[in-house]
Amino acid sequence: MTAQDTARPLLAPDRLDEVEGWFFDADRFLFDWLLTHQRDHGVRGDLLELGVYKGKSAILIGYHVSDGERFTVCDLFDASEAPDDSTAAEMRVYYPTLTRQVFEANYLRFHRRLPTVIQGSSSGITGQVPAHSCRFVHIDASHLYHHVRADIASARELLTGEGVVSLDDFRSPHTPGVAAATWEAVLTTGLKPVVLTESKLYGTWGPADALRDSLAERLTTHPTLWGVTEEVAGHTLLRVHSR
Ligand SMILES: C[S@@+](CC[C@H](N)C(=O)[O-])C[C@H]1O[C@@H](n2cnc3c(N)ncnc32)[C@H](O)[C@@H]1O
Repeated sequence: MTAQDTARPLLAPDRLDEVEGWFFDADRFLFDWLLTHQRDHGVRGDLLELGVYKGKSAILIGYHVSDGERFTVCDLFDASEAPDDSTAAEMRVYYPTLTRQVFEANYLRFHRRLPTVIQGSSSGITGQVPAHSCRFVHIDASHLYHHVRADIASARELLTGEGVVSLDDFRSPHTPGVAAATWEAVLTTGLKPVVLTESKLYGTWGPADALRDSLAERLTTHPTLWGVTEEVAGHTLLRVHSR
């Protein structure tokens, strides 16, 4: 880092709305709460995001990287990098103005250093990140069933025993493949759903009860969010809603 870099003024987290993307208030709260809760309870490990777009959620994750932890992001950034025609079509429809340069410039408005950036398909991620090294994986890349299914399998391999995965768009009308892959993982791989918002499902293959109960307790004093538990397929999960 140069002296010029350290003098460069950074934007505060409350300016995140200046970055284009999809990352809503309940999930911003949950990312902050989960990553802080892990740190406070001695859960260590690296952080990983599959699908960064222009950096909105990555910028927030970047505030939670502790000393000795690594933050890695992975994105195609360009339709020409897409692994198949259906992904290239999705890229052209939803992300026509995305470039790696835009992501990096946005990220550096908030942080002094970039995370480790992998440009390519998320299908290669287990060759780039060590197994059982991550405490948090955010899956927000392809919306196609076979890719999301593979991303979930990668997350399972990469997470530590107490690690948490966040799955974006698990219930949107335009993303049935994410819904299918998510609930398939719950029903067949032992993924425990801990909490869900309108946009994301958060789960773990590790202990879930204490984490869910701590969050439920925290929500009792939250000014704008409230939670309610529900039994689903043998799991007690917490639904989070806005007041
Ligand atoms: C919904 S956006 C991510 C939103 C972002 N997390 C935010 O907070 O704004 C999905 C991203 O995934 C990327 N993507 C799509 N398919 C991918 C794949 N197979 N591997 C890696 N990245 C992919 C797209 O380029 C796009 O940037």
